[in-house]
Amino acid sequence: MTKRLFIKTYGCQMNVYDSARMADVLAPLGYAAADTPDDADLVILNTCHIREKASEKVFSELGRLRPLKAAKPGFMITVAGCTAQAEGEEIVRRMPFVDVVVGPQAYHRLPELVARASRAAGTALDTDFPVESKFDHLPAASAATEAPSAFLTVQEGCDKFCTFCVVPYTRGAEFSRPVAAIEAEARRLVERGAREITLLGQNVNAFHGRDGSGAEIGLGALIRRLARIDGLERIRYTTSHPRDVDEALIAAHREEPKLMPYLHLPVQAGSDRVLAAMNRGHTAESYRRIVERLRAAQPDLALSSDFIVGFPGESEADFEATLALVREIGFVAAFSFKYSARPGTPAAMMDGQVPEPVKDERLRRLQALLREQTDLFNRACLGRVVPVLLERPGRHPGQLVGRSPWLQPVHVNSGGAIGEVRAVRLARVSANSIAGEVVERAPAGAAA
Ligand code: SAH
Ligand code: SF4
Ligand code: F3S
Repeated sequence: MTKRLFIKTYGCQMNVYDSARMADVLAPLGYAAADTPDDADLVILNTCHIREKASEKVFSELGRLRPLKAAKPGFMITVAGCTAQAEGEEIVRRMPFVDVVVGPQAYHRLPELVARASRAAGTALDTDFPVESKFDHLPAASAATEAPSAFLTVQEGCDKFCTFCVVPYTRGAEFSRPVAAIEAEARRLVERGAREITLLGQNVNAFHGRDGSGAEIGLGALIRRLARIDGLERIRYTTSHPRDVDEALIAAHREEPKLMPYLHLPVQAGSDRVLAAMNRGHTAESYRRIVERLRAAQPDLALSSDFIVGFPGESEADFEATLALVREIGFVAAFSFKYSARPGTPAAMMDGQVPEPVKDERLRRLQALLREQTDLFNRACLGRVVPVLLERPGRHPGQLVGRSPWLQPVHVNSGGAIGEVRAVRLARVSANSIAGEVVERAPAGAAA
């Protein structure tokens, strides 16, 4: 009998990838996708714990699902993801009607947990960090047609322990998948229509997977191997850490045309005092030098970043150092956040917590500057002919939307088909994307 599954995904791209794997592992049990929670027999909330707001969402969402549970016999609720890992016990206590609570490293056990919960009352809880890797036990990705751009997790977990961050606790220790498994998954994705693969990891450039001979290879070498796959046209990776940018990765940016000239490299702050308190293991100056080396290797490289404002002890002068760094590096995009104290992390206990209104004001100033720079970059690109991977239909009939090498959303009104990389002249910046025209011939590389 077909049962219906609805997954709601919060947080980062790794959760997007994990949600797809959870659907795959439940497919053999007869679960097919539902369009809404109301149509579903099983709802999975794949949660994020990174900031307080993110993790609170799960409790309000569970509150909304509760009446459904009461109304529909057999209806099941699973909480997965990072909040499940961090607050599993709390969820069971406050929301005892939840059927399954499962942490990110135990998804391969989901069928067993769902079965257990359907047999007996109470919550089936699994927030172990099992010795076996879920990757060895999750089925190969499903046969459904993939979008032209796909995610592939190559590394998980984090050993860096930035003082503000919950990820080392929710995802566990750093772990890299074997190269052969990654290559096989990449080939399957390409066979099913992916033209671009984004390699994912909490610290993706800390990747150190074993190849066939048992030797460890880094992300630079992995990118070169994946670039040999016919039909794969673009490779990206995220999220990387400044400390793990090595010579081999820089060389891949210099020499591998399939590697897109765009890098998300979180810096968090521009003040060395704050960076030290964050335990980032880099300074503003060492970050600048890394960017210099990357740009020497790939002059077309555009950078984006993550920022936290209002970290404990951050003064106005510290914050201005962040603004200065943003201008100096010329980031073309960024995610910026107000510091959120997370229980159990060292920064939550630090003196000098910054008042909310100060955080608000700094966030506004930072975001205004970042918007200005994004706009400047977009305008500087006008007139250029760049390769665009067409990914999906646009809002108007015949319109297609894709991405430039620098992740700019680009829409074209005619020419080309979904899954094609086409040469597009960037013509006009509109509200949410850049309007372009498909020109006759595709250029060889990203540079125009
Ligand atoms: N592994 C990635 C980031 C993971 S979290 C890295 O090291 O860059 C994504 C972003 O969320 C971080 O880069 C940081 O900017 C932000 N973040 C993490 N913890 C936070 C907190 N407690 N408060 C506010 N922002 C936070
Ligand atoms: Fe969190 Fe720092 Fe690890 Fe990134 S490197 S996941 S910010 S602890
Ligand atoms: Fe959130 Fe976990 Fe990703 S805390 S950002 S879902 S690793």
